[in-house]
Amino acid sequence: MTTTAAAAKFPDNVYEGEWTKNPKIVDLNDLDTFVPGYPYEALREVQEKFPVYWNEEKAEWGPGFWNLTKYDDIVEVSRHPETYSSAQGINISFAPEADPAVLNAIVGNMITMDPPIHRSYRKIGQPFFANKSVQAVSGRVRELAQDIVGKAVAKARDEGQIDFMLDIAAPMPISVLCDLLGVPHEDWKKIFDWSNELVGLFDPDLCEDPEGAVSVFMDLFAYGQAMIEDRRKNPREDLMTAIAEAKTEDGDEIPEHLLNGFFLLMVIAGNETTRNSLSGGMKVLIEHPDERSKLVADPSLLPSAVEEILRWVSPVNHMRRTVTCDTEIRGCKMGVGDKVVLWYGMANRDPEVFSDPWRFDVARADNPHLAFGIGEHFCLGARLARLQLITVFDEIMKQLPGMRFELDGEVTWVRTNFINGVKTMPVCIR
Ligand code: HEM
Repeated sequence: MTTTAAAAKFPDNVYEGEWTKNPKIVDLNDLDTFVPGYPYEALREVQEKFPVYWNEEKAEWGPGFWNLTKYDDIVEVSRHPETYSSAQGINISFAPEADPAVLNAIVGNMITMDPPIHRSYRKIGQPFFANKSVQAVSGRVRELAQDIVGKAVAKARDEGQIDFMLDIAAPMPISVLCDLLGVPHEDWKKIFDWSNELVGLFDPDLCEDPEGAVSVFMDLFAYGQAMIEDRRKNPREDLMTAIAEAKTEDGDEIPEHLLNGFFLLMVIAGNETTRNSLSGGMKVLIEHPDERSKLVADPSLLPSAVEEILRWVSPVNHMRRTVTCDTEIRGCKMGVGDKVVLWYGMANRDPEVFSDPWRFDVARADNPHLAFGIGEHFCLGARLARLQLITVFDEIMKQLPGMRFELDGEVTWVRTNFINGVKTMPVCIR
């Protein structure tokens, strides 16, 4: 587990002065808040007392930010990109000393664009995530799941313990993603390590030197650019070829920082999210043995169980928007430049929308969760993610009757406020 002392050398944005607008319940910029796992209790209090909650920031990082935890508010903001823009970044704040090339790529991809330009970039990747394309890879996803789960179950039997995160949850999405992008098998590990380092940028266990992390970004960009060059000469049927051949509205090639941004988005978005739904999903099934038995007894519940896992885990903690004109939410006035942060895990536990929201129910019938967001930026990879989740949990049921994994040690969490990231999850077979 990360210690505060070890973390202290990492750039941080913890505000220690007086709080304005509302009292402090939790500091959502203090990454240590997330080390023991998602701060459900504190955010539940925030949702009940201050559904529009102001969090102070260190002055050199920014002016502070609003936090939304109610379902309807998050839907409203997500559906109005003209008032709540994504174009100034979707993370809460950036270190003042951040490298400009890195920042350009972080804010240079479809997830940080507003309409109308957003739609033209989203269209480039869209065919690869359409129903037909996802159906077409289902056989390959099944093959990968059989192999990964098969090896993990055998290892758990031989060695007595596996790390569910490392042995099952992580290899699945990285394999599917690399297939989709056209990354050769010998480089999968490289992509996996880069993605880990970037998400764990402020976690000393995952990234030894955050200042050196710029080189990780640069290596990733160089790798993506080499692939693009190759695809321009040797086009294939993969997503990288679609990106390489795409043109701007003026018929020019896509500028370099947007190519970097596209590659970066795919590596992060396609990887960490699905991984954490798998780990978080297995964890919640283990912790709710009655619900697990219900699923095992009736595997036709798998699709609703996966939706409930997505609601429960909400693998993306937050996305941010920036206000473009005077507006207000629940009577709270906001002005141009105000940052608004959407906490999906709390929207997915809003008692005004979900009956008995703190109950995990694999048969939940009415489950309009926001784990994939909503509106303009609704997750492009949602179908592919659902396919992977259903296939992996189905394989676990097939290869390990009764899904008899049990926790066998402490679950640890990535030191980040962005994703609900399991770092290690030791399990054994009961
Ligand atoms: C369980 C897994 C996943 C979860 C929970 C998830 C969550 C999200 C969320 C919340 C957004 C909305 C961002 C916003 O409104 O600002 C998003 C967007 C996006 N996701 Fe996912 N995601 C998952 C899997 C994937 C996969 C597998 C891919 C691709 C391989 C992917 C690619 C994207 C892309 C490209 C966007 C941006 C869409 C746009 O800007 O129009 N995601 N995702």
